[in-house]
Amino acid sequence: MKIISVVGARPNFMKIAPLVAAIQQHNKANPKRHIEHILVHTGQHYDIPLSESFFKELNIPDPDFNLEVGSGTHAEQVGKTMMAFEKVLHYIKPDWVVVVGDVNATMACSVTAKKENVKCCHIEAGLRSGDMSMPEEINRLVTDRISDLLLTPDRISVENLRKEGVPDEKIRFVGNIMIDTLEANREKVAGFNLRDIVAGNCIIRNRASAVPDLLPDSYAVVTLHRHSNVDSKEVLEPLLNFLADEVAAVMPVLFPIHPRTVKQLKTFGLWARAENTASLWMLQPLGYLDMLRLNMDAKIMLTDSGGLQEECCILGTPCLTLRWNTERPVTLREHGGASVLVGNNVERIRTEFRNALAGGAAPKRPELWDGHTAERIVALFANEYYE
Ligand code: UD1
Repeated sequence: MKIISVVGARPNFMKIAPLVAAIQQHNKANPKRHIEHILVHTGQHYDIPLSESFFKELNIPDPDFNLEVGSGTHAEQVGKTMMAFEKVLHYIKPDWVVVVGDVNATMACSVTAKKENVKCCHIEAGLRSGDMSMPEEINRLVTDRISDLLLTPDRISVENLRKEGVPDEKIRFVGNIMIDTLEANREKVAGFNLRDIVAGNCIIRNRASAVPDLLPDSYAVVTLHRHSNVDSKEVLEPLLNFLADEVAAVMPVLFPIHPRTVKQLKTFGLWARAENTASLWMLQPLGYLDMLRLNMDAKIMLTDSGGLQEECCILGTPCLTLRWNTERPVTLREHGGASVLVGNNVERIRTEFRNALAGGAAPKRPELWDGHTAERIVALFANEYYE
């Protein structure tokens, strides 16, 4: 059996690492049901901190193909990916294409596979934010509509698919594959020194020596990269002011910055403000392991990332999700999780920041977020879909 799996951008890498490892294990134990695995990187993310560092840290083998599509508009990225991926399909002739998550690579490669009559499996199917202004929502809808096998991380996603008319035989609730990566690495990173991570990644190099010792539960972690938060000065400036005046005033703020956010802070003339705030530590985008380490001991997370929302739910870090909606409701407090939606309204963020610091119940681990999702997926292919 031949399977191509696809990665394109940062949030894909921690979802593919456990799949690769589970296929390797399966092949050792079951040589008669060998799965030939071919890894394709579309090249949407190409910088070392956004791509290569994840391959190294998570022991993902070098991709068999790199389509090198790079940055561009959505149409450019999707179009270039489809043209290049079609050639790979013609050459490899796989039985299945496996796509993960909701980035442009996910949608572009699922469409290309189906147009070539190749079966497609979507890992992380059924997530819905209901927000059609998010490119990721369009990617999710298209990918799920055409995929043959939809593997969901939670039961809410199963219901979303049923409501859209997807037949039950196409849907399997397998759990959250990203939590496999978290569980495989949390012990290893526990010994990493927090101060070394921050000092080693300071964007303003001459501030590195001033990084204080960081005790558990004494600092905030912030990430921001969504269009809705960083592409207008009217939104980004008050957010930065809140972080500088109200969060950094009470605890160190560790802020690994996405390249798009760096660009926007500079464009809007806000960079100097961020640079000159004593307790605001602007960091390069961190590798998976360093980010996990920071999250493990953070007092609070403020983020617009979906993946961090999920990780907070397992690590027990209170999470203010800087969005008005989420495709991951299972991580919200009302479903037993650690996260609360605060959008980008500073008053609301302030209120929930105070509530979060006051403490609350520890989050519950969602069903099947147990570190064994990849094994379940490979067993499915080996037992039910082997050809
Ligand atoms: C993509 C995903 C998003 C995910 C995010 C995580 C889609 C639609 N979006 O958004 O879901 O949360 O990744 O990072 O696929 N850039 C670099 N180096 C790189 C790659 C990009 O500097 O290696 C810069 C470029 O200026 C680029 C910008 O970052 O224009 C945005 O990159 P892009 O891949 O278009 O989307 P993301 O915002 O990263």
